[in-house]
Amino acid sequence: MSESGGAQPRRVRVHHLRQAKERGERITMLTAYDAPTAQIFDEVGTDVLLVGDSLGDNFYGHPTTIPVTVEDMIHHTRAVTGAVKRALVVADLPFGSYEASPQQAHATAVRLMKEAGAHAVKFEGGQRVAEHVRLLTSSGIAFMGHLGFTPQSENVLGGKRVQGRGEGAAERLSADALALQEAGAFAVVLEMVPAPLAAQVTEILSIPTIGIGAGPHCDGQVLVWPDMAGLSDWSPRFAKRYGRLREALTEATRAYLDDVRAGTFPDDEHSFAE
Ligand code: KIV
Repeated sequence: MSESGGAQPRRVRVHHLRQAKERGERITMLTAYDAPTAQIFDEVGTDVLLVGDSLGDNFYGHPTTIPVTVEDMIHHTRAVTGAVKRALVVADLPFGSYEASPQQAHATAVRLMKEAGAHAVKFEGGQRVAEHVRLLTSSGIAFMGHLGFTPQSENVLGGKRVQGRGEGAAERLSADALALQEAGAFAVVLEMVPAPLAAQVTEILSIPTIGIGAGPHCDGQVLVWPDMAGLSDWSPRFAKRYGRLREALTEATRAYLDDVRAGTFPDDEHSFAE
């Protein structure tokens, strides 16, 4: 979405995302897990900040997102919502906190909104969670879907694999996307889907698609921020590194250690004379 011009919203709302799709303006989205980074992403005009359960592998060092708890999500979502002025903050419902029933999904979503200030929630799945989504949206909860590669189902999907390939897969993905739209979702993340299929789903939906490893034809793009900024020691092929944070932090840490060891820090400038 454009940051320039008088149409700049004070606070990004779900209808602004739909208007952006109608105008052909790309939506920008990044993950955020803490206040200082959320503040930077917000100040430079990122439209949507996702407190993703990817904090499991990107913040806590877990091998997957599976161990992430509702308490973890509340904790980090509160840090992000407290730091932003403009961005729409979406919080993930972690594995085990919504699948069992629409009521379970509703109860978890309500906690993320009341205890952490989330503006919207996201969870994984299509037709199998359509009733869950319907209960949320009919209760006034803004919902973002997540299709394609869904990390919480990694064990069923056979690892981190591109989805939507093979017989019937494209039709299933389209049906899932339409089911989420029908149930009231305001947007859908498409993860690791062939670009032509993502383009096709984007075309049939009136709500925006946000791609990650889904090619250039989605209405918006999201990246996991440590991948985007070059902090991760490994990142997927689809994630372009826009910075060299890992190298910068390594260099800064080395310089600090060298100074301490050499006795050149603290110097007079960084000491109290009296
Ligand atoms: O948790 C997350 O960061 C996500 C993105 C990959 C879309 O769901």
